[in-house]
Amino acid sequence: SIVYLNGEFLPAEQAHVPVLDRGFLFGDGVYEVVPAYGGRLLRLEQHLARLEQSLAGIRMSPPLEREAWARILEELIRRNDGDTDISVYLQVTRGVAPKRDHAFPAEVRPTVFAMTSPIPPVPARVLEEGVAAITLDDIRWSYCNIKAITLLPNVLLRQQAVDSGAAEAILIRDGHAIEGSASNLFVVLEGVIVTPPLGPQLLPGITRDLVLELCARHGLPHREAAITEAELRGAREIWVTSSTKEVVPVTRLDGQPVGDGSPGPVWRNVIGLYQDHKA
Ligand code: PDD
Repeated sequence: SIVYLNGEFLPAEQAHVPVLDRGFLFGDGVYEVVPAYGGRLLRLEQHLARLEQSLAGIRMSPPLEREAWARILEELIRRNDGDTDISVYLQVTRGVAPKRDHAFPAEVRPTVFAMTSPIPPVPARVLEEGVAAITLDDIRWSYCNIKAITLLPNVLLRQQAVDSGAAEAILIRDGHAIEGSASNLFVVLEGVIVTPPLGPQLLPGITRDLVLELCARHGLPHREAAITEAELRGAREIWVTSSTKEVVPVTRLDGQPVGDGSPGPVWRNVIGLYQDHKA
C-alpha cells in the first residue's frame, strides 16, 4: 500500500521513521481514524477539528491547514483502492529530537504520517446476534478526551476482552460506565437512548456525535447523562460506536444476556438511519 510520510507518498515498506522520534520513545503524539465510503470521507471536518483539539491538548500547533489535510487524504485514497470502504489513519508526533529527554525539544519538526486500511463489512453474524462485552476497571489517565497514540491501557483492556471471548471491554470508573476500549457507549433505558456526557473521561467520538444528531433529526428520545453500573446492567439495549465499526449491538455483558439477548429494535432503527446517512 501507499502511505504518506512528511510530504511524500511512498510504499509502506519504504516509509521509515528515525528511532529518536518522540512517538517511538515516548508515545508523544496524537492520531485520527477517518472512514471513507466509496472514496468519500465521512465527517472529515469534525475529525480534523478533533485532531486540532488533540494537538492543542499536547501543546502542539497543527502542522497542516485543514485544506492541506483534505488534499493529502483524498490523494491517499485515490492511490489505495479508493472505491472500496477504507479508513484513513493519520498520526502526528512531536518529531525527532536530538536526544532522549522528557521535556519538549526546541525547534523540532513534527512527524506527519497517514495510511489507509480496508474496513471489512460488518459480519452478518454480528448484525444478527450482536457481540459480547465485559466490564473492566478504567485504568486509563485523566485526559481521555485527547486522541493520544499512547494506547497501552486500551490495548491491555481490549486484549483482556478478547481473551475472555468478548469483542469489547466497557470501562467502569467510580461506579459509572464511561466508554469502550476503542468505542463510545450507548444504552437504552426506559425507551430513552443514553450516552455519557463529554468530558475528560472519554473521547468525543465522531460516530457518537453523528448518532446523537440522527436521534435529534428523527425525533428519537435521547439524552446525554452519566450511566451507573447498575443502569448498564439493567439496560434493554447496549451499543458501542466507532468510525470503523459503526454502531454495534452488545447482546451479552459479563456472560449475561442484555435485554432478550438479541439486537434490539432501537438499535435496528438507528443502524438503518446510520446506513442511509453514510450512503
Ligand atoms: N477509536 N473511544 C475510544 C477510546 C476510541 O479509541 C474510539 C475510536 C472511540 C470512537 O470514536 P470515533 O467514533 O470518532 O471513531 C471512542 C479508533 C477507531 C481507533 O483507535 O482505531
